[in-house]
Amino acid sequence: MKRIITICLLTTGIYACNNGTGDAKTVAKTEPTQIAKADPTDSPEFQKGLELIKNSDCATCHKIDEKLIGPAFRDIANKYPDTPETIDTLAHKIIKGGQGNWGSIPMAAHDKLSIEDAKSLAKYVLLLKNK
Ligand code: HEC
Repeated sequence: MKRIITICLLTTGIYACNNGTGDAKTVAKTEPTQIAKADPTDSPEFQKGLELIKNSDCATCHKIDEKLIGPAFRDIANKYPDTPETIDTLAHKIIKGGQGNWGSIPMAAHDKLSIEDAKSLAKYVLLLKNK
């Protein structure tokens, strides 16, 4: 991931030198973040989360971009800051279930999940953040 961002910065840097226009500035500002956020799939954390989701029942209630029984994973990611505290809170919610943050429909408990796996799932969800 870091390498992609560096390459982007280098590329936009060269671009900015060749075309010293206002446009170049906009590109330099937005492009690296957009690419980094839009494609987190190369990160091992993302792959780990994806694997755990495949082996669990999350997809019965969650989709990435649409509300199903539960909120869209991307909406969850955009609601919270990407901090260790959020990862912790979400991991506990995934294990214990509960309701009230998105409405009155309860999330099922997953008490067979280890806290490490629940944290990996929370990290995966937060990687979908695009706001
Ligand atoms: C039976 C349906 C159901 C299943 C299965 C389910 N969820 Fe949920 N999930 C919900 C609902 C409903 C909510 C909203 C709860 C609320 O309002 O606080 C939710 C909320 C969440 C949240 C946000 C919690 C918050 O407090 O904002 C996360 C993260 C999450 N689910 C992850 C998962 C993961 C990961 C799995 C699989 C291990 C999973 N869910 C399985 C229904 C489900």
